[in-house]
Amino acid sequence: MHIRILGAAAGGGFPQWNCNCPNCGGVRREELDARPRTQSSIAIRGADETAWTLVNASPDILAQLQANPQLQPGRAYRDTGIRNIVLTDSQIDHTTGLLMLREATRPWPLWCTDNAFADLTISNPILQVLQRYCGIDRQRIVTGEWFTVEGSDDLRWQAIALPGRPPPYSTRAPALGDVIGLIVEDVRTEARLCYAPGVANIDSWLFELMSSAQCVLVDGTFWTDDELVRLGVSHKRAADMGHLSQTGGMITWLDRLPATTRRVLIHINNTNPILVEDSPERALLSERRIEVAYDGMEIVL
Ligand code: MLT
Ligand code: MN
Ligand code: ZN
Repeated sequence: MHIRILGAAAGGGFPQWNCNCPNCGGVRREELDARPRTQSSIAIRGADETAWTLVNASPDILAQLQANPQLQPGRAYRDTGIRNIVLTDSQIDHTTGLLMLREATRPWPLWCTDNAFADLTISNPILQVLQRYCGIDRQRIVTGEWFTVEGSDDLRWQAIALPGRPPPYSTRAPALGDVIGLIVEDVRTEARLCYAPGVANIDSWLFELMSSAQCVLVDGTFWTDDELVRLGVSHKRAADMGHLSQTGGMITWLDRLPATTRRVLIHINNTNPILVEDSPERALLSERRIEVAYDGMEIVL
């Protein structure tokens, strides 16, 4: 199984267009040892090099496709290496890129929960919009059940319901299935990835699932729960936004994983000090063998 990190930042990206926090200002002025990152998305494939599944469709998808030519195999005048799309929630940073994929020559097989489908057809009806372009072939994700996407029989997927929140624009009441994590298993090798870019809390049940994976690619949004409040850029805490901060428990959970598990933080907010390569926070992660995802990172399991 090949996993390509297309975008490792949270909503807003790094630097964020209107942000002058020490990180965004510093990287914009090229004063910091830090890499810019686009908004949250990954792509996964099994043996077939031309059958990628896009997991979340970022507002930055066009730049991400340009930066990852393996997703454009060029077999016909109109072509793509993306065969399927899977969504982990209906947040703006995970779905806006769908509109940029409207020139597709066939309806997109789109896997999402009923919760996400409701948001994307009612509060933010971009799937209705897409029906007037390439069309959508909606596939239902039921949490707890395994599924296989078309063209990738060697991978199987399981959605796990995670504690989280519906997006701010949603008019629905919060419900189980608003945010999912994914277990992706290569059936040839039984290697597993656990992908959870947004998770508000970890319990022993989720920890067991994480422990069953060779690699966990998990919520790296915030270093502290009050990061945005302390910087004075928002009144929202990490927990209010459905994110478990690194110092609020994530590091402790990752420390308890089996020694061989690869631990990678993703969906990193631009305010997070771990983005700075020579920061003390980053050194603390390195001591614990916790990696920080970056655009273009490839993980092979
Ligand atoms: C989140 O996951 O909380 C988002 O990144 C917020 C956003 O997209 O603005
Ligand atoms: Mn997000
Ligand atoms: Zn910033």
